[in-house]
Amino acid sequence: MKMLNRLSWMVGLTLVAGMSLMSCTKEGPAGLAGKDGKDGEDGIDGQDGTATCITCHDNTQALSARTMQWENSFHATGGAFNRNTGECAVCHTSQGYRGKLAGTYDPLATGAKIDNPNPPNCYTCHDIHETYTPADLALTMSGAVALYNSTESFDFGKGSQCASCHQGRTISNFPVIGGPDITITNTRYSVHHGPQANTITGIGLFNIGEGLSNSLHTTMITDQCVTCHMAPGTGAESGGHTMWMRNASNGLNTAGCISCHTDAAALAADVTALQTQVTDLLTELKAKLDAKGITAPGSDNSLSGTYPPVVAGALVNYRAISEDKSKGVHNPTYIVKLLQNSIAAIE
Ligand code: HEC
Ligand code: HEC
Ligand code: HEC
Ligand code: HEC
Ligand code: HEC
Ligand code: HEC
Repeated sequence: MKMLNRLSWMVGLTLVAGMSLMSCTKEGPAGLAGKDGKDGEDGIDGQDGTATCITCHDNTQALSARTMQWENSFHATGGAFNRNTGECAVCHTSQGYRGKLAGTYDPLATGAKIDNPNPPNCYTCHDIHETYTPADLALTMSGAVALYNSTESFDFGKGSQCASCHQGRTISNFPVIGGPDITITNTRYSVHHGPQANTITGIGLFNIGEGLSNSLHTTMITDQCVTCHMAPGTGAESGGHTMWMRNASNGLNTAGCISCHTDAAALAADVTALQTQVTDLLTELKAKLDAKGITAPGSDNSLSGTYPPVVAGALVNYRAISEDKSKGVHNPTYIVKLLQNSIAAIE
């Protein structure tokens, strides 16, 4: 009892000491009590920063499969993306192509050049990392493609993306039937490599003679290049983003043909027959060009000189059809007839 009393006395003393200490600090009178605040509301959850990313960067392996294929394509391995100046950079570098589409790269400006060039890659054909949503897989180019050496355009469906690069370049002195002689001063007289858009449509070549007409491939195959070259193929050797039509183990990839050519054996025979015929016609035409002195045996380079328009025009056709590399398949009836007419035009 005595202890308890003593304890409460000590507690009391401590409180008094504390109060007297507090009262040493001088404070003004307390303000009026404020109004009760409104209860807060739950905030909206922040957006998941990676939600749209994983629509592409997921575990389906869709991107990595395309990357594997692309790595085996000539787009990735060809090496010609060092052609990174002026007009060349528009088709040979990814940034030049996108820059031309966006109007930020002017190939004709003095000193036009793409530094740190990339070859055609994911960012060339798709809008990758623009909205960071699946919409970015859209193709960067669509609709009709204006073809050089002509005033015409052609819509290749999804293949317009390809055709915008895979077409002949401008020839300043393009031969005209019955027009003036053509003076050639360099070894490259013709429409350049990869004129597939021209051979497929019959536009922009030296269309000489009667009876030229496109095959049904021109109008029936709505996505053109994409239908045949990007059909599912063999691993990363053909088809898809490799763009290759043929591979060592399985030969020609006919996955894009069979919806129309239902008989596989007949198709194989037709392709062989056509490619043999076109190869022979090219050899025959080349011999005539050599005889005219516009080329020399063993080389496709043009030799300087002045030539009748039909000879120069036949050279344009010869080189375009060689560089087309399908040996007729792109446009069977037209390619065969154009070679025959070119041969006939040179006496
Ligand atoms: C439309 C599909 C798509 C979406 C959506 C997408 N990406 Fe990508 N991403 C790609 C492709 C295609 C590549 C290039 C792959 C290659 O080069 O092989 C890539 C590459 C990358 C790379 C590798 C570095 C590079 O730039 O090449 C990173 C990192 C990346 N993405 C992050 C993201 C992030 C973060 C998001 C979301 C904010 C995102 N991606 C959304 C398709 C996509
Ligand atoms: C940005 C321009 C560009 C686009 C778009 C483009 N290509 Fe190419 N392609 C090239 C260039 C340039 C080469 C040659 C690469 C090199 O030599 O480095 C090439 C090479 C190729 C080759 C190999 C040619 C050979 O000599 O064996 C094929 C096949 C091909 N492309 C098909 C396509 C298809 C199909 C498309 C559309 C899906 C396409 N390309 C779109 C520029 C392009
Ligand atoms: C309209 C688009 C376009 C332009 C412009 C262009 N090229 Fe090309 N070039 C191509 C395509 C497509 C190929 C691939 C053709 C193929 O292999 O079937 C190619 C192929 C080449 C090749 C052969 C590459 C190889 O490995 O077989 C060389 C060399 C080349 N171009 C140089 C040039 C130069 C130099 C310029 C500028 C003076 C130029 N190109 C402008 C589209 C273009
Ligand atoms: C030369 C042009 C070109 C290049 C380069 C290219 N693509 Fe494509 N890609 C296409 C075309 C054309 C299609 C449409 C094919 C179809 O419809 O059959 C396509 C389709 C796709 C698809 C399927 C889209 C869908 O809607 O199902 C994916 C995924 C894709 N590409 C990823 C890539 C990646 C990753 C790269 C780089 C490694 C790449 N592409 C490079 C032209 C290209
Ligand atoms: C009817 C289907 C078909 C269409 C459409 C088509 N190609 Fe081809 N392409 C072929 C075949 C078949 C070959 C010859 C392959 C062989 O014999 O090795 C070929 C060859 C090529 C080559 C030579 C390299 C290779 O793969 O052998 C290029 C480059 C090419 N085509 C580009 C294009 C472009 C660009 C387009 C659209 C403008 C296009 N092709 C449209 C079927 C097609
Ligand atoms: C959309 C339909 C379609 C597709 C896809 C297609 N073809 Fe054709 N092809 C035709 C038609 C129709 C003809 C015959 C009429 C013509 O040439 O005008 C033809 C003709 C041909 C010929 C000439 C045959 C002859 O009798 O002279 C060859 C070779 C050929 N195609 C190969 C191919 C190859 C190879 C592929 C795939 C890489 C392919 N075609 C894809 C419709 C198609």
